[in-house]
Amino acid sequence: MNSFVSMKTLNEAEIYHLIKRTDWFANNKSVDLSTGKKRFVSNLFYEPSTRTKLSFEIAEKRLGFEVLDFQVEQSSVVKGESVYDTAKTIQSIGVDAIVIRHPEKNIVQQLSESLSIPIINAGDGSGEHPTQSLLDLYTMYKEFNEFKGLNVLIVGDIVHSRVAHSNAYALKTLGANVFLSAKSKWQDNTLGFPYVNLDEGIKRADVVMLLRVQRERHASQEMNEEDSYLEKYGLTVARELQMKPNSIIMHPAPVIRGVEIADQLVECNRSRIFKQMEYGVYARMAVLDHLLN
Ligand code: NCD
Repeated sequence: MNSFVSMKTLNEAEIYHLIKRTDWFANNKSVDLSTGKKRFVSNLFYEPSTRTKLSFEIAEKRLGFEVLDFQVEQSSVVKGESVYDTAKTIQSIGVDAIVIRHPEKNIVQQLSESLSIPIINAGDGSGEHPTQSLLDLYTMYKEFNEFKGLNVLIVGDIVHSRVAHSNAYALKTLGANVFLSAKSKWQDNTLGFPYVNLDEGIKRADVVMLLRVQRERHASQEMNEEDSYLEKYGLTVARELQMKPNSIIMHPAPVIRGVEIADQLVECNRSRIFKQMEYGVYARMAVLDHLLN
């Protein structure tokens, strides 16, 4: 593995290796991890980000890398420079790895094929988000210790969600029992998992994974439907009461409180939403360490 672009291409052993490395970083927070060798990493975010960008940055700094922050809106991108030329420039000046988020699906894969340094996908449009998937898998692993037979319900804007895609591919490889719930126009029938009624699915799930409504990838009229979204398709207080005793709630965030999930459930006992963010740092350390050390 020279780059980290997709969960689809990883086998079970490779995924477990990264989960175990994530666990190692989670358990060795106070160890000095810098190797003394100067290495440069650049984070190219063509789409907004809070968690992913900052947790990559912390992960890079904890591993002792020099982080060259790149502000797309302050760069020659505004003069019309292409993604390829921008990334090739960054490689040419001596950067050792690029983390990239971009609105176009598959662009990260293409870059990884044309550049020689490791490229890490921090989200490509509605394509994939493999480091989010790794932190999600680690969250489930911490809770349940295994994936075979684990009942995972993924709910919401599945077709537009790169998080749903990466998780569906990885959970399939790991032998989880995945089922999906979404309104018909947000279903993605290429994933190979069954769609279920939300109220039925909630009763069976060990993990209820909610997704953000991807407003930026919709035609504008869909936003008007958000008023009734929670009751029809979201995790209400009444639905949470139907969940199994040890089941958990996940969401990659940003959460739109009151749309995908009732406000008071975001930080309830079952919610792992803020734990996921913490684990994101360890997952990104595992990936960077794997590719660069
Ligand atoms: C996700 C993203 O940007 O893909 N957020 C994240 O990285 N934690 C999910 C989302 O925005 O819906």
